[in-house]
Amino acid sequence: MLYDSTKPFHTYVDAKAGTVDRAIFADQAIYEMELERIFARAWNFMCHESQIPKAGDFFLSFIGEESVIATRDKKGELQVLLNSCRHRGNAVCRAEMGNARSFLCTYHGWTYGLDGQLIGVPGYKDFYHEQLDKSQWGLVKAGKVASYKGFVFATMDPEAPDLDEYLGPVGRLGLDLMAEKGDVVAVEGVQKNLIGCNWKLAVDNLYDWYHVQISHASSTMSGYSRPLVPAVVDEGAPKPPQQNQQMLHRVLLGDYGHGISGPRRSPEMREYQQLVGDKIEPLNDDRWRDEPAAKAALGEAGADTRGHPNIFPNLWVASGGTQLSLRLPRGPGQCEIWWFTLVPRDMPKETRDLRIMRANHTFGPAGMLEQDDGENWDQSTRATRGPIAQRYPLNFAMNLGLGEPTVTADGVRYIDTHINEHAQLWTYRAWAEWMDADNWADLKKSRTPTPVGAV
Ligand code: FES
Ligand SMILES: [Fe+2]
Repeated sequence: MLYDSTKPFHTYVDAKAGTVDRAIFADQAIYEMELERIFARAWNFMCHESQIPKAGDFFLSFIGEESVIATRDKKGELQVLLNSCRHRGNAVCRAEMGNARSFLCTYHGWTYGLDGQLIGVPGYKDFYHEQLDKSQWGLVKAGKVASYKGFVFATMDPEAPDLDEYLGPVGRLGLDLMAEKGDVVAVEGVQKNLIGCNWKLAVDNLYDWYHVQISHASSTMSGYSRPLVPAVVDEGAPKPPQQNQQMLHRVLLGDYGHGISGPRRSPEMREYQQLVGDKIEPLNDDRWRDEPAAKAALGEAGADTRGHPNIFPNLWVASGGTQLSLRLPRGPGQCEIWWFTLVPRDMPKETRDLRIMRANHTFGPAGMLEQDDGENWDQSTRATRGPIAQRYPLNFAMNLGLGEPTVTADGVRYIDTHINEHAQLWTYRAWAEWMDADNWADLKKSRTPTPVGAV
């Protein structure tokens, strides 16, 4: 089925049957509507505050396909500005990050302050006869900018709910799984590469623990992939409990399409980690979760959640809270993947180096895992285009109808089960709601609340 403007988007995602139409991964018109109805409306991740600590610091990011400058103005306030001169549209900032006093357009020289104000126009007196109202021709500013525990987000839509409300408990928990590790800072440099896939397939995969054994078999055979059961550095340490990790998963389905899905820590594993203490290999050390502040932030549902969070639409909190990945749309068949690595500020150099080395060798263009994943997404995307393939939807029905939520005392719902596809289907369902809604008021009214019963 190709895009048919008379059919609402919820007909492309059958939540009851657990199927998704292939047109949503291939169609140019649908893609263009995503840019408008999802990216131009949502809270998009910009950067981490540690990347722009001082006045004048800036970091170039994206909202959909549009370049934006995240910066700190002279007062230290966060600003997000569309990187397009109001004269002929040229980019006013080309560097990926740095420090500036102002942004000078290299075409005709209009100059903008750190808060986006137009402050300089060559020939203002002689050519414009002082008739250009500079107050009306500043850079386009984000509708709202906010930071949650150092993670900077922006929305172009002033009607969007505030960031805290947008994230809700599941989105906040997703970020807490990184933020509560301590005072984290972004490592210099962001890895960026293009993959020939639809951005949603890359998002879908972050919840996918079904593919690991097959897709990443070579990584496991080579001894590279870390087991989920914590390794210890001391041979004499007691052995970890024997568990089938594939049967120990936890899913949280959140507001506006956020989610967390993946392994959970069992009570036996929690006890074991306490028992072996410092003998746990540092990358597997989960004991930070038991610190009082982290414990309070994570709450009952988060204490043992070791799965992958996605902040809808496209921010993955990855690698056990060590990396952030953006899945940036670049057309229906192209996705630009960004990787940020974050470490606690006071981490010993040796552990920090080890963590960065792991990050570079796991994901990104040289990553053992992403090379496997990218190939699959590329082939899946190619096979969504043909008129024959288009007649057959994709299957997201694993464990459908059997995911029973547990409700915590603070009202957060989670589903403990085995490997499943609940979060993937939840993402597509939310996607359809965003696409069908005409504006924020409509989306707030029409969205499916976090499910009460089985999903
Ligand atoms: S395009 Fe920027 S000054 Fe002309
Ligand atoms: Fe993978």
